[in-house]
Amino acid sequence: MRKADRVGKGERSCRTGDHCIGIGQMLQQLSHTGKGRKFARIVIACTELSRSASSRSTKQGLMPMYHRLGKIPHKRHTVFKKPDGNLHYEQLFGTEGFSGMSSLLYHLNRPTMVGEVGQAIDRTPEAAVTHNLKSRMIKGFDLKPADDFLEARKVMLFNNDLNVSLAAPRASMTDYFYKNADADELLFVHEGSGVLHTLLGDLPFGPLDYLIVPRGIIYQIEFASEQNRLLIVESFSPIVTPKRYRNHFGQLLEHSPYCERDIRKPEQLDPRDEKGAFPIVIRKENHLHRLVYDAHPFDVVGWDGYNYPYAFNAEDFEPITGRVHMPPPIHQTFEAHNFVVCTFAPRMYDYHPESIPAPYNHSNIDSDEVLYYVDGDFMSRNHVERGFMSVHPAGIPHGPHPGAYERSIGQKQTDELAVMVDTFKPLRLAKMAVDLEDDSYWSSWREQS
Ligand SMILES: [Fe+2]
Repeated sequence: MRKADRVGKGERSCRTGDHCIGIGQMLQQLSHTGKGRKFARIVIACTELSRSASSRSTKQGLMPMYHRLGKIPHKRHTVFKKPDGNLHYEQLFGTEGFSGMSSLLYHLNRPTMVGEVGQAIDRTPEAAVTHNLKSRMIKGFDLKPADDFLEARKVMLFNNDLNVSLAAPRASMTDYFYKNADADELLFVHEGSGVLHTLLGDLPFGPLDYLIVPRGIIYQIEFASEQNRLLIVESFSPIVTPKRYRNHFGQLLEHSPYCERDIRKPEQLDPRDEKGAFPIVIRKENHLHRLVYDAHPFDVVGWDGYNYPYAFNAEDFEPITGRVHMPPPIHQTFEAHNFVVCTFAPRMYDYHPESIPAPYNHSNIDSDEVLYYVDGDFMSRNHVERGFMSVHPAGIPHGPHPGAYERSIGQKQTDELAVMVDTFKPLRLAKMAVDLEDDSYWSSWREQS
């Protein structure tokens, strides 16, 4: 089922009875008081994936594609005047010192004009479960929607490499700006559409888009409706395309399941030459700081380089298939330090006449494996619904549910669309994950007597 067919299907009405204070409102208060296609699955973490590829230095490049927008001077670090004769303000913007991917930006105003620094709010995730050795199933769509974009984001799983959150934001984030200085963000849009506004340009998005936002990018998000469901991965190392799909120049190779044409880059700049009070909520060391700047952050008239946000739709992932069961690394889409993200796309099943399409039982001894079920009929599970998220911890094997093996034989194709992320370090569960859990899942492989 293609994207156009799926739009609107299965969308839930929002729970307008919920009341919460938005993060913007909360920060404002602190400031005033002086205190302050069927089912797609997203799997997060899996041992089966190429660990060596992911644990390699991520300085291989975020996404080595040069891009330029707007007006820039012919030579970098030279005089670049505005029509009134004053200078533009150049900014080098990278995330790994002076040796990683970077872009050069040209502002109408100084990007350094801080007018106010508010109190920080601690958002450090708290673990309800550590040392987990139970398989878990989190009913993600039971998460209550919230108006504010940041307030709606609830960390479910985390370790020192990443946070995995779910969110059902009802309102656009347009009355303040946000910058995550801790982490690259992967926003997977399960439901919803709109525009991601960034200082490097706009990215329109829709269902099944991955939005990759490098740390430090200032953005706002505008939703087309109140029905939005997001899976969010915050990575404390750069999220990059898999090294094994790139040549030594960085170009995606012929055996890669996607290529540069599938990457959507910002294509439009609308520089704002405005002075006033512009609050930016900045996440730094798990604290939310509120800084007010004197100039509109989206005042970039031009930029070029390699460091910028981009979009990739899961339906543009071309699955790799085989005569017998192919292992999870064929689904790999992104990688970062100590974890990978994969997409299980609709695909033809194995074509050996005696093949068993269901995956074999497997031991993920060195990684926690998380699957987020987006749409489709999951052959290996007896009961999953949209938005479910399973956690199969390192240390014990897992596999198809009773009956799933037999059911899969002779089937030709699957409509499931999946994304997978495997963490190579154990995940902790936040209280919200436990609250949303189906507590019978861990024993769901037992045979009925
Ligand atoms: Fe697995």
